[in-house]
Amino acid sequence: QTLIITDKNQMRTWAKSMRSLLNTIALVPTMGSLHDGHLSLIQEARNHSHLVVVSIYVNPSQFAPSEDLSTYPSDFDGDIRKLNAVPGGVDVVFHPHNLYDYGVESATDCAGMADVSCLEESGSSHETWVRVERLEKGMCGRSRPVFFRGVATVVAKLFNIVDPDVALFGKKDYQQWRIIRRMVRDLDFSINILGFETVRDADGLAMSSRNVRLSPEERQKALSINRSLSKAKSAAERGELNCKRLKNLVVDEIQEAGGELDYAEIVEQESLEVVEEIKSPVVILIAAWFGKVRLIDNIEINI
Ligand code: PAJ
Repeated sequence: QTLIITDKNQMRTWAKSMRSLLNTIALVPTMGSLHDGHLSLIQEARNHSHLVVVSIYVNPSQFAPSEDLSTYPSDFDGDIRKLNAVPGGVDVVFHPHNLYDYGVESATDCAGMADVSCLEESGSSHETWVRVERLEKGMCGRSRPVFFRGVATVVAKLFNIVDPDVALFGKKDYQQWRIIRRMVRDLDFSINILGFETVRDADGLAMSSRNVRLSPEERQKALSINRSLSKAKSAAERGELNCKRLKNLVVDEIQEAGGELDYAEIVEQESLEVVEEIKSPVVILIAAWFGKVRLIDNIEINI
């Protein structure tokens, strides 16, 4: 039977008492609306610790006002049903009502600004932020300037409350995964950060809580994301190592399908530095709009 904890002090007390009995704890942070991508991470967590904690918290600080916080899907009862069906189960669902004691407003809209200096004027009463300065800048950080400081900060808070030995993340959110690994290394959290492969629907679309907002037509168009990534990967494997040409393959495929590309980048896997010629393992990262829905995906190329 899953224990649902909504109070952070109670969460801390539970974790402390379990650790005093020499149990190890795995944490899977989520924003709910769970799908098979989340559930595979949660099931995997069993292989890495005695106890599994899943957090469900739609973190306001990672959304800018123009973004989809108010329409972000939520289905807590459905989530609990799905968690109860996971083989091995889940020990605790941590579902705080609010993690920011002093209140937090999503920051002012920085879209289009070259830096994040506008954040300082956001007037939120929560003051302390974790910034992974270089890794948060490109790609999703460019179009969503407040996103990664919100993510890094809430994940640091969850780590301090739950005190896990290991935390599991999906590589679907590749930049997020790299940022969390880097934060843990830089700030000496003694937590093992693991990343797992993207779970896809049968048609290849990466599972995402936002997919439910796609019309059937938009969903069809969105299949161009995975198709374009696979195309570029096979081209690279056949010897096309020029990133400009590989990127063009991706851009053309998505535009022909009627998607609006936010970015397509080919970067070194760990540093996320943009490369012009593939010489070492890289990842192609994409974000694109289909109607009002922004989707991300990526593919690793290990050459
Ligand atoms: P959320 O989007 O709910 O994702 C929670 C975790 O599930 C993340 O680690 C994400 O990478 C993983 N995930 C999502 N879709 C996946 C898929 N198709 N295959 C494999 N893993 C997948 O990411 C967040 O929440 C938030 O930013 C969070 C880290 C919880 C901080 O608020």
